[in-house]
Amino acid sequence: MSPAATIPLEDFIKELEDLAQSAIEEFGAVADSEQLEAARIEFVGARKGKFKTVQKKLGSIDGPDKKAAGMKLNDVKKSIEKALNESVERISGGGNEKVRDAKFDPTLPGPQQRVGKLHPITQTIEELKDIMGRLGFTPADGPEIEDDWHNFKALNISDSHPARDPLDNFYLSLASSREKHVLGDNDLLMRTQTSTVQIRVMETTQPPIRIISLGRVYRPDTADSTHYPMFHQMEGLMIDELVTLADLKTVLKLFATSYLGNEVPIRIRPSFFPFTEPSVEADYFWNGKWVEFGGAGIVDPSVLTAVGYDPEQVSGFAFGLGVERLCMIRHQITDIRYLFTNDVRFLRQF
Ligand code: DAH
Repeated sequence: MSPAATIPLEDFIKELEDLAQSAIEEFGAVADSEQLEAARIEFVGARKGKFKTVQKKLGSIDGPDKKAAGMKLNDVKKSIEKALNESVERISGGGNEKVRDAKFDPTLPGPQQRVGKLHPITQTIEELKDIMGRLGFTPADGPEIEDDWHNFKALNISDSHPARDPLDNFYLSLASSREKHVLGDNDLLMRTQTSTVQIRVMETTQPPIRIISLGRVYRPDTADSTHYPMFHQMEGLMIDELVTLADLKTVLKLFATSYLGNEVPIRIRPSFFPFTEPSVEADYFWNGKWVEFGGAGIVDPSVLTAVGYDPEQVSGFAFGLGVERLCMIRHQITDIRYLFTNDVRFLRQF
């Protein structure tokens, strides 16, 4: 193998000077950002640029000449960079620091930003509050851990009623005496219905009352396309003098029409709930069929008595609707489980 050929210093300097001159000329001549980019790659491209190519020859300069060669290399590098920068400035209209990078093309669309969104159930809840708010109903809240009184007894659900079956409820066993001290020793459970909030509101407020309560309820159901052990209800309660079934039907009709955005026919069918008398099941007509949207009725006098009202003086209606069902109908969601699997491919669509 022959020893690496050395390059005379003069040749190296000459080559650098020629390079600097042609770079300065070419950067001075470019007319647009495309030509500028081409020139940039030609002269100062990181891998195959002409400057790089000459720079690599530094290793072949004789030891004693290395220093002088290195200094010349630096000078040339600076003057090429200066020519490049001036050219960038000229092409980009000057001055604007942000467009100094020749790689930046201000005509390209910016990167798409993903904006977070509210969960479809939260969106539905907000909309329901909005609609009911316009009808004069204000939101009220209650706890998700409830006692026997608010979930059953005050709602006229007797001690022997099958709704209390342990198989249909998440009863809580209190482990520590501290919890018992805070929560009391009543049979506590995860509330199975938002009707509990009717009682809580009536216990602390005098009529007239017009509230809705939106929140989670819990039942030990096996999950399938229409069931989930946790879901949301919207409870409504109106108490005043002489409130009748006609008022209830009007409110439900206005609600359905606002939510579904059309003149939606509704119908009510006789039903039974311990806390209403008479009780009804309400349906609305949607996409060619009757869809059930919840239970309702005239508040049973024994419920009014339980909270200290005089059923001779006031009356009222109540209703309880499933939020998931409303959301699913609106968006044609076929399986309730999609709502709670938190798959962003699903959630992004809302
Ligand atoms: N709480 C009932 C349920 O979960 C729904 C319901 C029916 C609520 C009638 C009401 C009502 O306020 O009047 O099935």
